[in-house]
Amino acid sequence: MNIKEAIRYGIEKLNKNNIDEANLKIKMLLSYILGKTKEYFVIHGDESLSLDDELKFKEGINKLNNNIPIQYVIHKQEFMGYEFYVDENVLIPQPDTEILVEEVVKIAKEFIKKHKKGEEIKILDLCTGSGAIGISLSKILGDNAFVTVSDISEDIIDIVEINSRKNLANLGMVTSDLFDNIYGKYDIIVSNPPYIETDVIKTLSKEVQNEPIIALDGGQDGLDFYRRIVKDAKKFLNENGFLALEIGYNQRESVEKLLKENNYKNIYSQKDLGGNDRIVVANI
Ligand SMILES: C[S@@+](CC[C@H](N)C(=O)[O-])C[C@H]1O[C@@H](n2cnc3c(N)ncnc32)[C@H](O)[C@@H]1O
Repeated sequence: MNIKEAIRYGIEKLNKNNIDEANLKIKMLLSYILGKTKEYFVIHGDESLSLDDELKFKEGINKLNNNIPIQYVIHKQEFMGYEFYVDENVLIPQPDTEILVEEVVKIAKEFIKKHKKGEEIKILDLCTGSGAIGISLSKILGDNAFVTVSDISEDIIDIVEINSRKNLANLGMVTSDLFDNIYGKYDIIVSNPPYIETDVIKTLSKEVQNEPIIALDGGQDGLDFYRRIVKDAKKFLNENGFLALEIGYNQRESVEKLLKENNYKNIYSQKDLGGNDRIVVANI
């Protein structure tokens, strides 16, 4: 089978199973297996695949036909211009979450201006998953900030370690059920916690349902994690410290209410590029 035939074969197989974006996914898969760019395929369409590569290609197609997201098959996702290793243990970092990172960068820069020269500000990324938020912040803010990331399981923290090495980031990593193993105080606590209502999960696309349930399930009303984070974050924030949260499109009022009830100040929200409420920020 040559490259041209492989692409045709793969697209046909995915189309038969109504897998969307077949063309894009097949080229991403082949590009990953052959270690070549998609442009390479245009000029070298007649080049034959080795038997080993053909086997890997067919295995990849089977996974895609079973609604495994392409990112889990090729083990990568881009976020904030950095590449992250992902597998079935972690949520695939979403473009909408970049808004949260961008806002935290703005807040962090204000803190940095006020800090003494050479003194780092401290940021905690709670529920870090692949480490996408914390590692991006650490790379963008450089020596001006020290970022600690945490998540509930060691398997997940192992993935953060892979991504930290991959991106040459220097950060603290803690396995913790929310704040249970967190010590010290932070200038900014950022989190994209699980926030999907339990009953809604089964209505989501099959691909999303193949992401870890522990990354999605926010309890009956989707707010379980916000209740715990909003209440406890205050103990771990420095004076004037910020809490920055990603939220679901229908959760702004509820999360703002929780923040008010817990005496946070200067509460504001921002929408994503699709016009949906996406983040809520407040300080103490
Ligand atoms: C929505 S995902 C977000 C992942 C990542 N921050 C991102 O934006 O791509 C939520 C994360 O919360 C973690 N998590 C779930 N329950 C937790 C708990 N009790 N304590 C800490 N982390 C938890 C999951 O393992 C998952 O990585």
